[in-house]
Amino acid sequence: MLTTNINKAKKALKNNDIVAIPTETVYGLAGNAYNERALKKIFILKKRPFYNPLIVHIKSTSFLNKIACNIPDTALRLAETFWPGPLTLVLQRKSLIPDLVTSGKETVAIRVPDHPITLALLDQLDFPLAAPSANPFGYISPTSAKHVSNYFKNNLDIILDGGECERGIESTIIGFEDNNPILYRHGSISIDEIEKLVGKITVAVKNDINPNSPGMLSRHYSPSTDTYLTNNVPELLKSFEGKKIGLLLYNKEIISKINVVQEVLSISGNLNEAAKNLYEALHRLDNNNLDAIIAEIFPDKGLGITINDRLQRAAKDCKVIAY
Ligand code: TXA
Ligand code: MG
Repeated sequence: MLTTNINKAKKALKNNDIVAIPTETVYGLAGNAYNERALKKIFILKKRPFYNPLIVHIKSTSFLNKIACNIPDTALRLAETFWPGPLTLVLQRKSLIPDLVTSGKETVAIRVPDHPITLALLDQLDFPLAAPSANPFGYISPTSAKHVSNYFKNNLDIILDGGECERGIESTIIGFEDNNPILYRHGSISIDEIEKLVGKITVAVKNDINPNSPGMLSRHYSPSTDTYLTNNVPELLKSFEGKKIGLLLYNKEIISKINVVQEVLSISGNLNEAAKNLYEALHRLDNNNLDAIIAEIFPDKGLGITINDRLQRAAKDCKVIAY
């Protein structure tokens, strides 16, 4: 099931089967982006609603013109700067891309992933790979091959093992309206980095009924364990006396009289490192038979913004307690 053999993956994909692939962000459930049979398999395996479109993974920027048109200059500049890398561009699609990929939209989401195994695989294929994150719909994204196999067990024949994901959090998604860039999803590239290149950009408002990008659905990326988000962990912890609690913390453990499982994401206080460790820590806590997880709100800057976005979606409740 877990393998590093690209040829096996290549053969399966050519046969329109589904293969889990490593990327620098999270693992993906990949299939031939031109083939409806393969695409349907992805949606069914992931239990993903058909209204939620997929990202198409291409091998290089030069492939862009095959599947997208009317590409804004800003998009090209972003692609030149960040590809291969954790940036997804939503562009006008060409008809080669099936409706299933775009959920019938006239736009298609595209990126060049930055992982040597997946780039080598794409290089050997004459089609791009549609791939959502390799988790059942609504659950935490996988950042290791083991996470993927825990989710899909025998329902997935091939998982290409590329080790732990370097970034550990999904790509940043940018779309365009009247050629102006719009942020659809916070991701591994912070909004500051994007704005350094293209100036101030609009952040798409969260909308549960008709989300521009369903990654913006407010309940998403969820552990099975009830999760709470707070700016005052010790205070919230008091209301869970007698329960088995896990804590997700930024840079230091808390001193607690009751027995708690603590996950500290970056002892040195580095938000990039914290982002990389976030999902692995959530997976670990979620597999620990806890009554609840309490996560602290991260600093609201750089990748802290992305981490807070994911924690808000993972959480049942957000308690801001005044000190
Ligand atoms: O880092 C990533 O982006 C990972 C790796 C595997 O590449 N993929 C990923 O895919 O996170 P997924 O399917 O879990 O999230 C893709 C997001 C969804 O929120 C989807 O709604 C949005 O991309 N999306 C796809 N096509 C879109 C479109 N045409 N317009 C707006 N949003 C789109
Ligand atoms: Mg996902």
